[in-house]
Amino acid sequence: MSIATSGLEMPAFVGGTKRLLIGGEWVQAASGKAFDAVNPATGEVLARLAQAEAVDVDRAVAAARKAFEGPWSQWSHSDRQRLLIRIHDLVEKHFDELSLIETLDMGAPLMRTRGLKSFLLQQILFYASQTASCSVQTSANALPGNFSTLKIKAPVGVVAGIIPWNGPLMSQWWILGATLATGCTAVLKPAEDASLTALRMAELLLEAGLPPGVINVVTGFGTEAGSALADHPGVDRIAFTGSPETGRKIVQASSGNFKRVSVELGGKSPDIVFDDADLDKAVPGVAMGVFTNTGQICAAGTRVLVQRRIYDEFVERMTVFSRSLKIGNGLDPQVNLGPVISQRQLERVMRYVDIGGQEGAELAHGGRRLGGELASGYFIEPTVFTGVHNEMTIAREEIFGPVAAVMPFDTFDDALRIANDTNYGLAGGIWTQNLSTAHRMSRGIQAGTIWVNCYGVLDPQVGFGGYKLSGYGWKGGAEQVDSYLYQKAVYMNLG
Ligand code: NAI
Ligand code: MG
Repeated sequence: MSIATSGLEMPAFVGGTKRLLIGGEWVQAASGKAFDAVNPATGEVLARLAQAEAVDVDRAVAAARKAFEGPWSQWSHSDRQRLLIRIHDLVEKHFDELSLIETLDMGAPLMRTRGLKSFLLQQILFYASQTASCSVQTSANALPGNFSTLKIKAPVGVVAGIIPWNGPLMSQWWILGATLATGCTAVLKPAEDASLTALRMAELLLEAGLPPGVINVVTGFGTEAGSALADHPGVDRIAFTGSPETGRKIVQASSGNFKRVSVELGGKSPDIVFDDADLDKAVPGVAMGVFTNTGQICAAGTRVLVQRRIYDEFVERMTVFSRSLKIGNGLDPQVNLGPVISQRQLERVMRYVDIGGQEGAELAHGGRRLGGELASGYFIEPTVFTGVHNEMTIAREEIFGPVAAVMPFDTFDDALRIANDTNYGLAGGIWTQNLSTAHRMSRGIQAGTIWVNCYGVLDPQVGFGGYKLSGYGWKGGAEQVDSYLYQKAVYMNLG
């Protein structure tokens, strides 16, 4: 389906050659190089993107430093709060366009990208509520003698935000929001596979009155722009979301000048269905816990643990549900699942499907790339493997595609052992009507977020983060805002 037949108008923003935002100016990469922004549903080129390299990153970091030390540092809490509220209003006004660009650029259906509206607006409002967190606490007479103590918080400085392609609208805001709330400045590097909404958002930030250099956006590849940014001595903090392999490089690069760093990495989250669960809710809940965003979500509940008494019925119903999902170009408002992001990701997912079969898992549904009119995009059927053992590769490694690994368990202890037998610890789901099971399991699972009788719900005031290989640093919540601030203690002897 072309955009013409979907009844939607192509946003004027799409097309042409996009530039980098450095110091409030839109500029080309110094090399003049550019690369394609591709629609993964069709393979069509949406625009050309400036290909930043180390020299461009230098300029962006210098612009961010200059802005950090400039008039921005004199903005009051309420100035920054008003800026965030103006941005909120512009994002609300332009949300249909932003969601359409996101759908075109990374493939998630409009059903999903439009559905994120209230979350995104809530996210921005949350950060608007946090601008007074650079506060001063005082304590008098805490020490013997005549002392007054001040505890001051101050912005850490220049933030490097490196984000992935699986949901750039939301991921960029964890960084933009914390940066603007605290009075930091940032250089944002969106993923090479989905950069357009970060560029459109930057236009809205400028329209809202963002001072030059406070947010800079450099598009480019991880090995060029990304690594230059992570290494840069002018950067004070890195906020990274992506794969553990790259996360490790980021942490290593951060050690040069001991940058503050947070890394939100992958997951292999368990979603546990007890035999007393309400299956009318659990079946779609568990299936969409894996398949939402075509499985390209760090917190996806990809290891589905089902209590043996209901195992066959659950598998049957999950298969029927999976079959009912509509796969296609996400411009069609009826479509539930879009393509995966790229040829590379498609190959990666199909390789895991092969490995699943070779290691003895049974394919209950899916497992094929879709052809026909979808052949020019990267479409894969939602895939349900049953009879999975937790030692199998498809139960151990993050696939980042629409692949569920379903396995039976017998007892509570069994389920808990399997749930925690993983290198990751981002999330976990529990489906039961028994309060005690829900509480005990919530405490037992070693993961940063637990969902009971739901999956994927997120509140920006609460935030999320991981255990183990899922990385460190909390995103959202007051804890995250604090991680963009230095602490300082001032002891005064009043004599
Ligand atoms: P990636 O981790 O390499 O990319 C994420 C971001 O890091 C992108 O902006 C990229 O340009 C940047 N980057 C890459 N190499 C870099 C380097 N050396 N220094 C600094 N920045 C660098 O992820 P990729 O290659 O797109 O996907 C590979 C796999 O990673 C996926 O199949 C999935 O399993 C996992 N992944 C997990 C995500 C999550 O949210 N947990 C998000 C994206 C990918
Ligand atoms: Mg794209």
